[in-house]
Amino acid sequence: MSDKATLEYNGRKYEFPVIKGSEDEFAIDIRSLRSSSGMITIDSGYKNTGSCESAITFLDGEKGMLRYRGYSIEDLAEKADFLEVAFLLIFGELPNEEQLDTFHNDIKAESHVDEEMKKILHGFPKSAHPMGVLSSLTSALIAFNPTSVNVKSEKEMYHAIIRILAKFPVLVAWCMRKKKGLPLDYGDDALGYVENLHKMMFKKPNKEYEKNKIVIDALDKLLILHADHEQNCSTSTVRIVGSSHAGLFVSLSAGISALWGPLHGGANQAVLEMLEAIAADGGDTKKYMAKAKDKNDPFRLMGFGHRVYKNFDPRAKIIKNAADEVLADLGIEDPILEVAKGLEKEALEDQYFVDRKLYPNVDFYSGIIYRALGIPTEMFTVMFAMGRLPGWIAQWREMRLNNEPIGRPRQVYVGETIRPFMPLDRR
Ligand code: SDX
Repeated sequence: MSDKATLEYNGRKYEFPVIKGSEDEFAIDIRSLRSSSGMITIDSGYKNTGSCESAITFLDGEKGMLRYRGYSIEDLAEKADFLEVAFLLIFGELPNEEQLDTFHNDIKAESHVDEEMKKILHGFPKSAHPMGVLSSLTSALIAFNPTSVNVKSEKEMYHAIIRILAKFPVLVAWCMRKKKGLPLDYGDDALGYVENLHKMMFKKPNKEYEKNKIVIDALDKLLILHADHEQNCSTSTVRIVGSSHAGLFVSLSAGISALWGPLHGGANQAVLEMLEAIAADGGDTKKYMAKAKDKNDPFRLMGFGHRVYKNFDPRAKIIKNAADEVLADLGIEDPILEVAKGLEKEALEDQYFVDRKLYPNVDFYSGIIYRALGIPTEMFTVMFAMGRLPGWIAQWREMRLNNEPIGRPRQVYVGETIRPFMPLDRR
């Protein structure tokens, strides 16, 4: 393969370096395009445009492969726990025992959230969507952790990272407990990271917390599967906000807002609402398939399709198997799971979906497990954000340590050309 690409336009030739990634991906480096040709490229949705070189996550959409720092998602989901994966994504290596203990102890030492934050939480009505609350609280944390804002050194970044890893699960739990009218508790340092999150979310005020290993393991696996996914919409948001050297917490707050959209992380809530509508409609999947294919109908089959995966989303495969296992282990018969499987079967045999390579994505089955774990539908995307937290942190840290320039795309102007001002009495 040549290490140069040539563009020919208007009788002139322009040469650009071609870079090759560690998985044999090739990219034309067009950083000199405008200075050499006066032209720019345009690529709405960035379907063909790379924003950075990253060493964190690799995915192959054609083969349905996903790896964090070189480890397959199948291995990590089966053999690691979420805190180990968080360490791996952020610092690049799986931690040894001592590193993991230090990491967890540093997090426990920061797991207090200022009581004043509860006043902000209580300022929201119970009807507020928890994603809006979580985004606001994450941003509000700055006021109580001012030294985590202008972080420049790796040491300062580490402390900001530890603080948000410690406090975010508390905020996640508080978002759910507020909706349920439960007291806002703190965690228990004697527990594991995910077990502690689960206890904060579910402990009843008048009962001892009962650990359920099946539930904790399922939650841990789901968080691992959501932990990172290269330059998706919310991660790109975290990177571009962070590229102005805005602090980590506000960059994450922006990422939470981007994730909320139903085309992105909000899809997991939309999937459950769609499946429930189909079930209420007598399980009439054909009607919803027709709606999804009707260009005049904005309805899309939520949980299907992906910008990168044109094969099975490997996470969807793992989650689908986990859904069967968790529901069986918990003795739950959920008719919605059967509706989901029926819809999947129908879509995978439908020419429209086959032609467009639309397969179930990470959001298609995840809600069924969340529901079995007793998590309310409106909290599904909050759980996605909890899982994605270490990935966002890792990507923000990589962007800052690589001294990436501030993100500022160009445009092609298609508006009015120069024109004289028109006084009010002549408009
Ligand atoms: C996530 O990017 C990531 O990595 C995201 C994520 C992560 O981990 O961060 O993987 C998490 O966001 C998963 C995706 C969750 N969203 C949904 O499930 C919402 C439903 N899916 C779609 O809206 C859509 O598939 C997207 C947004 C996911 C991808 O859209 P693209 O890549 O912009 O594709 P497109 O809209 O150009 O669609 C191509 C064709 C179109 O038809 P034609 O114009 O060619 O006739 O496929 C059709 C679309 O209409 N299509 C669908 C469809 N998805 C695409 N038709 C019906 N139902 C769908 N779900």
